[in-house]
Amino acid sequence: MRNHQIEESSYADIGWSNAVHATSAPVHRWYVIKEAFSPRLVQDAIDEVGVGAEDLVVDPFCGSGTVPLTASLGGYRSVGFEVNPFLAFVSRAKMDRPNQQTFSRAIPRILEGIDEGRKCNLEQISTFSRSCGREKWLFNTSVLRGFEGAWQATARCPTDVRNLLRLSLIGAAMDSCNASVDGKCLRYKKGWQMLGYGRRHLKSAFLQRADAISMDLLSVDKGRKSVVLQGDCRSAITQSFRRKFRLCVTSPPYLNSFDYTDIYRPELFLGKFVGSTTELRSIRFGTVRSHVQVDWARPTRNDFGALYHQSIAGLRNRAAYLWNPKIPVMVQAYFEDMHTVLTKLRERAQPDASLWLIVSTSAYAGIEIPVDLIIGDIGSKAGWFLQKISVLRFLRSAGQHWHRFAGKGEDQPRLRESVIMFGASKPNRTRQY
Ligand SMILES: C[S@@+](CC[C@H](N)C(=O)[O-])C[C@H]1O[C@@H](n2cnc3c(N)ncnc32)[C@H](O)[C@@H]1O
Repeated sequence: MRNHQIEESSYADIGWSNAVHATSAPVHRWYVIKEAFSPRLVQDAIDEVGVGAEDLVVDPFCGSGTVPLTASLGGYRSVGFEVNPFLAFVSRAKMDRPNQQTFSRAIPRILEGIDEGRKCNLEQISTFSRSCGREKWLFNTSVLRGFEGAWQATARCPTDVRNLLRLSLIGAAMDSCNASVDGKCLRYKKGWQMLGYGRRHLKSAFLQRADAISMDLLSVDKGRKSVVLQGDCRSAITQSFRRKFRLCVTSPPYLNSFDYTDIYRPELFLGKFVGSTTELRSIRFGTVRSHVQVDWARPTRNDFGALYHQSIAGLRNRAAYLWNPKIPVMVQAYFEDMHTVLTKLRERAQPDASLWLIVSTSAYAGIEIPVDLIIGDIGSKAGWFLQKISVLRFLRSAGQHWHRFAGKGEDQPRLRESVIMFGASKPNRTRQY
């Protein structure tokens, strides 16, 4: 591996690649997801690149909206893409700036709705409720009924505050859920049966979230209008914005077999973005091929450079230890998707554009996949000029049963998160690695 291409930098270990800053940043905090990166990273990119007032900032994988929101608050034009309808809703809701008094006046109606309660369709959906007869359930019945009563109350509130009320309500239901996101999945909380979540908890969680929104509505400007498009960026980038962009900051799904559609299954159902498992499955088909949950179209390209071929050969050698036989095809498909996105972005880039892409490396059966370096190679093929790859942080070591796979004297790979920086034009000074 050409580790000499990577530099440790001033960006390392300052929380750039995680959501820690978002939890206290106005508006960003309205809904924070674990996979979000820091608004400070986006601001630093804007400043370092020198984005101008009329320039466009884009993010093809905008998740909870960190890029479009930071750009919008700074007065820049921006476009985000997001395939998951719940996350697209989160990003869009963060652009809403209704009148603070109208929002505050609606809060008691929602609390009354929680008290009144209504029978909820989710009581019939597997894993959501005790009434489905499983040993574990995500929501106690009183939480689901309180939620449904309040949801119906939002329909009687002014249209311009509805999305923010619903966002707070979904957040409050998730605060009252018997499971929470942990690593790659939803995990039941310790002693969840004893937590006894009910309407009281739902009400106080809702109030806490609504108060934060109310406070930010008083202090934060509207910013410049951002557009968040719901859809698959692999096909949507080309058609969706005519103006070429100056800066793209983005973090695609990592190559870690983590399916966001599963993680956000409760929110997708709570917010009525999906009503059945079939609808959920169709969203999964639109996502980047970074997981093995569905049978994807088989990838056809593999011209991703020597490091890619080295990784694939390593995986094939350890095929017997892979937890899923589809992993080598998933890896190929993932890089094919990255090639598509990088090529389409290059077509829509201004000549002086910059692209900052945040990813993590992966490891399967002890074989390290240097995703950052391989994307560096793919980007160069797609017409980008690699400027540098900087490590943001090292993650815990890869592979739980290392000794089963390891060759003699082999080092255990340490995963790293990096930012890969590309320019659309050749830099004046050629970088020496
Ligand atoms: C690492 S997260 C991005 C988080 C984001 N930077 C933030 O701060 O919230 C990657 C996102 O890409 C989305 N995604 C996956 N496949 C996609 C596709 N084909 N088109 C658009 N978005 C996609 C996922 O739903 C997920 O929200």
